[in-house]
Amino acid sequence: MKKLFFFVIFLSLVNITLAQDSEIESKVDSLLSKMTLQEKIGQLVRKTSLNKNTAELIRDGKIGEMGFYSPSVRDSLQRIAVEQSRLHIPLVFAADVIHGAETTFPVPLAQSCSWNPELAEKAARIAAFEAASLGLNWTFAPMVDIARDPRWGRIVEGAGEDPYLGSIMAAAYVKGYQGNNLSNEGTIAATAKHYVAYGAAQAGRDYNTVDISERTLREIYLPPFHAAVNAGVASIMSAFNDLNGVPASANYFTLTKILRDEWHFKGVVISDYNSIGELVNQGIAKNKEDAAREGITAGVDVDLAGDTVIGDVYSPYLGKLVKNKIISENLIDRSAKRVLRLKFKLGMFDHPYLDKAFFKKNMPSKKYKDEVAQQLARESIVLLKNKNHLLPLKKDIHSIALIGPLADDQEDLLGPWAGSGKAEDVVSVITGIKNKVSSGTKINYVKGCGILDSSEAGFNDALYAVKKSDVAILVVGESRDMSGEAASRTKLDLPGVQEELVEKIESLGKPVIVILMNGRPLTIDWISNNIPAVLETWFLGDQAGNAIADVLFGDYNPSGKLTTTFPRSVGQIPLYYNHMNTGRPPEKDNKYTSKYIDSPVSPLYPFGYGLSYTDFKFSDLTVSKEKINKNDSVNISVNVKNTGTYSGTEIAQFYLRDLVASVTRPVKELKGFKRIFLKAGETKTIRFTITPGMLQFYNIDMKKTIEPGTFDVMVGGNSEDLISTSFEVIE
Ligand code: BGC
Repeated sequence: MKKLFFFVIFLSLVNITLAQDSEIESKVDSLLSKMTLQEKIGQLVRKTSLNKNTAELIRDGKIGEMGFYSPSVRDSLQRIAVEQSRLHIPLVFAADVIHGAETTFPVPLAQSCSWNPELAEKAARIAAFEAASLGLNWTFAPMVDIARDPRWGRIVEGAGEDPYLGSIMAAAYVKGYQGNNLSNEGTIAATAKHYVAYGAAQAGRDYNTVDISERTLREIYLPPFHAAVNAGVASIMSAFNDLNGVPASANYFTLTKILRDEWHFKGVVISDYNSIGELVNQGIAKNKEDAAREGITAGVDVDLAGDTVIGDVYSPYLGKLVKNKIISENLIDRSAKRVLRLKFKLGMFDHPYLDKAFFKKNMPSKKYKDEVAQQLARESIVLLKNKNHLLPLKKDIHSIALIGPLADDQEDLLGPWAGSGKAEDVVSVITGIKNKVSSGTKINYVKGCGILDSSEAGFNDALYAVKKSDVAILVVGESRDMSGEAASRTKLDLPGVQEELVEKIESLGKPVIVILMNGRPLTIDWISNNIPAVLETWFLGDQAGNAIADVLFGDYNPSGKLTTTFPRSVGQIPLYYNHMNTGRPPEKDNKYTSKYIDSPVSPLYPFGYGLSYTDFKFSDLTVSKEKINKNDSVNISVNVKNTGTYSGTEIAQFYLRDLVASVTRPVKELKGFKRIFLKAGETKTIRFTITPGMLQFYNIDMKKTIEPGTFDVMVGGNSEDLISTSFEVIE
């Protein structure tokens, strides 16, 4: 009865959506039939900067989308569109909201280390609400690029190296930004970017060439985009890079065949900044007109262009291309319809202006926003090392030497792409610690050096502070602009003389805790070998200091797990957990196996790794059936015990390996995870279901298939320390 009730509700919701969709379709068709070619092209043009002719262009219907402005400027531009243009079509305001609008949450790479998509969704919901209150309707987020190369600065903007986790996070962000219905106030259209394989830039150099197999494209780089599409993402951004010889913004195969024909994506494709005009530089277009033709033909609807030398190519050339019969007007109609559909879905025609009263009344409280930001920040922290249980510290510790360029910093803790976030809203580490410790605790703060300093002049004061303290906490890392766009690095060491500072302090023999802040894995071999306690905190945003103090002093038991492998050295890159096996896997005493003569092959810290103040033990892994048919599912169960003395959360990860197949398969692939809270001494049994979809892969003909044979099932707290069993798929 209950099931029937929900089914009826479900059917009526489907009916309502279908009715709304067909109503929107007829509005779009009717509007389009009244538009001139120039007005249709106008919908495909997004401008950012304001010039003396902006008003005139809007009035003439030559701009469809604009950027981010103060609410009053936004509404005055909108008034021109709605009240003075011939067809009164509203503008949409679109810009980047990456990890917060006003409230700054941890950078996306950090958020992924929480393995908590529900919490990330809540943060995105807040970000959307704030962004909408500032006048935005559309964001260029989430970035769902898989990244296997920490030299690439944009690794900070995504969810790391794994396509499964990346897909879960992608869907969570989309739901967070878009809510249940885009027409509700406080929701904004999301954009999955950068389509596609931008993260595979050769040598980790931003904007560089990408050359990967179709299998790697489909199995590694496409899944998070597909997940975003399935979650209803409103738009997709085409990337800068070329992919196997065809630039992403002129790529009919990815933009039309995969995105539209295979996935049935109905939304808008927007180019990355100037990426259509840049087709000229990439050598596949003779000139800008040719570039415009390539972009629209491949399937890019909107030209996101800057007022640079390259600038926009759609507004000056699309009309000419139609008139000269080089492209059909149908192409323009198709793209203009997609944009108009989005504007109707967003409710722009009903409420084009900013409803300040609504936002004033409904804005979530600062307390709630700070709580979400602090919880997400705590859960994003990864405890890399904790020798002899140095952490957590006691709150009534007598004295602390707090050292390092990031210990009293607010600006850098915002991370790259901080939206409208303000440094003064950030709780620094020193403030977080002061808020936490007893009134008797003495904090001896010395900066020691700047992030990029080459001088050791400040070292003596730092050493003196350490000598007179019980413990040294060093806060070191990158500045926020060392990661993000156009911030590739060839060296991944701590910049400047920071490592020298850590080494000198360590030599004093006091207990030392290193807190790292950075937008990518760093090569911290020495620190990892010599410093007893190390916390990876990325850039945690507004609540950084409070979250770090929660972990330092045991109010939160760390649970974060790495979503990107930490290499020992740059020479190992790319290094990722889901690699293929070689014919000669590394063997200790056999020179002619796949390894280095000057370094171990293994990473410093593997994917999925992160410690807790307690210990967890996995046991009794069982599969419900030892043999299954291709279309069957198998259940697995495993016991997880908290064997230590603190309560804590473990992130149980489950991996599969197809032992023998017609093409080489990864040594393991993440297929599921669960967050489990366990009190000290407690045991819980957790279950996963292995579905046929998890056993599929692309065969030599690029067909998704399941082949009979043995599959290993591995479960554990990171991608290396796993217990395993197996089952067999029979014909
Ligand atoms: C970036 C995009 C961003 C766009 C608009 C580009 O340079 O690659 O991620 O959305 O600018 O700001």
